Amino acid sequence: MASYYRRYWPRNITATILLLVVAIIVIRLAANRLRNGTRADDNDDFVPPQIDFPRHSDFARTLREVASDDNTVVIAVIDANYAEVALNFYASSIKRHGIENMIYVSLDEGTCDILAGAFPEMRHRCFLHKDISAASDTVLQQSRNYKEKTYLRRFFILEALKLRHNVIVTDVDMVFVGNPLADIKRTCGRCDLAIMWDGHQENYDGGLVFAKATDRTITFYNRLASYELSHGTGRLALNTALKETKKKKLALKVETLSTKKYKVGIEFFAHNSCPEKKAYKGVLVIHNNYIMEAPNKVFRLKECMLWDWDGFDGYFTNASRRYLTVESAGPRGHPEHQSLLNAFSLAKLLHRTVVLPYLECKKSKCNLLMRMYDHSHLHFIGRFNSVTAGNYRECTFLSNPRVPSAIKDSNSPMFHIAFRDDNTKVTSHGEPVRHLVPKDLNAGPTVREIFGWLAGRPERVIRFDSLTGWFSHINHVNILGENLVKIIREL
Ligand SMILES: *[C@@H]1O[C@H](CO)[C@@H](O)[C@H](O)[C@H]1NC(C)=O
Repeated sequence: MASYYRRYWPRNITATILLLVVAIIVIRLAANRLRNGTRADDNDDFVPPQIDFPRHSDFARTLREVASDDNTVVIAVIDANYAEVALNFYASSIKRHGIENMIYVSLDEGTCDILAGAFPEMRHRCFLHKDISAASDTVLQQSRNYKEKTYLRRFFILEALKLRHNVIVTDVDMVFVGNPLADIKRTCGRCDLAIMWDGHQENYDGGLVFAKATDRTITFYNRLASYELSHGTGRLALNTALKETKKKKLALKVETLSTKKYKVGIEFFAHNSCPEKKAYKGVLVIHNNYIMEAPNKVFRLKECMLWDWDGFDGYFTNASRRYLTVESAGPRGHPEHQSLLNAFSLAKLLHRTVVLPYLECKKSKCNLLMRMYDHSHLHFIGRFNSVTAGNYRECTFLSNPRVPSAIKDSNSPMFHIAFRDDNTKVTSHGEPVRHLVPKDLNAGPTVREIFGWLAGRPERVIRFDSLTGWFSHINHVNILGENLVKIIREL
């Protein structure tokens, strides 16, 4: 043994040293790449684009027109992915509080038209920046495009500041539960910037920023624009730029908006649940963040009854839409899937829209988004929306005050599809049920029986206690299509 080692030891040492040297070289190269690479790629390479903004004088004039007495404007920069969210923000936060000093800047063709289609005043309050270099499929082009977009987001804020307007820069995934403008100005006093604080990551949250038109703020925003090119957009760049400012002792007076009044999403919608009434006490602004993807953001606000925008075809109020509810989908797993498949099939046959029941989660009843959170099922809502063409409603729909009582008070009896030896008399909540009795109590109802019982029902809402039965005459795949059946089984 010993001689074995002695014989091989020298060669091993040489190999180890060689390996170490190679490793050191590789690590140094990698570090250099990291250090210089990002900068070379993202900054030195990047010449801020000559901004072709033909409506600049319009922009300046509109800012003058809409600015409040103390020369403040609210600006939200949007793109096509967030058109629906922007519409809701306008409805729920801007228009609702009569905030008049607000404009949108759109980075995509068509978005301003969509906004103006819903709110005609947007014709003059939405600025389109002509879409930047038509998409090319090379990665380089895409990243360049992304950088330009990033840069443009700051460009408009900077222009407004340079025109000596104080700017409230807001994301559109915000809900102004109350009008925050007076509070923001009071908080700021003699500050340059007032920013939300992220109670979760202990950083500033860029969802809502008050930027006063001072030279210090302009300098800061210039620096921020360059950080965003090298560090990515949003919170990270903002916090990096602020830390740098502090470290270098650059003059900039920053105030923090109260975390009691300005809430970030992870805290307010803990685990994607909807907070109780008392959680709203004293709250002015909710940032609907810490959730990825627009469809999830939208759905969260709908479930929590914070969504205001009625859509182009009356999401809450459409008088010609009829609904079908199922009180309980039964225990998680097969019964629940069966119940939802039956509900969607019956609704399809009867030209009705399913209002989802509360589902079973680990500890208690929960909404769909909580269930998705349980599963980390990020794309579910988006896919569900596209498979159903949006023809379903969240579990809180019928308790939402935006739904007119002509709809929610027009209820059928609580129906119960009977099976053999069935003596169900009341629901789990004690409400009496009305039995619908199929001829074949083993096989369940036929499509013809369903029509006979329910097609002529005048009520807006047809209610079932549960639909967990196995109905052999109802073929889910034929009625709903494979995709919908598949996605319901993923729940
Ligand atoms: C109601 O919804 C139907 C179906 O989506 C749509 O065709 C109709 O235009 C809507 N009506 C209103 C008043 O929005």
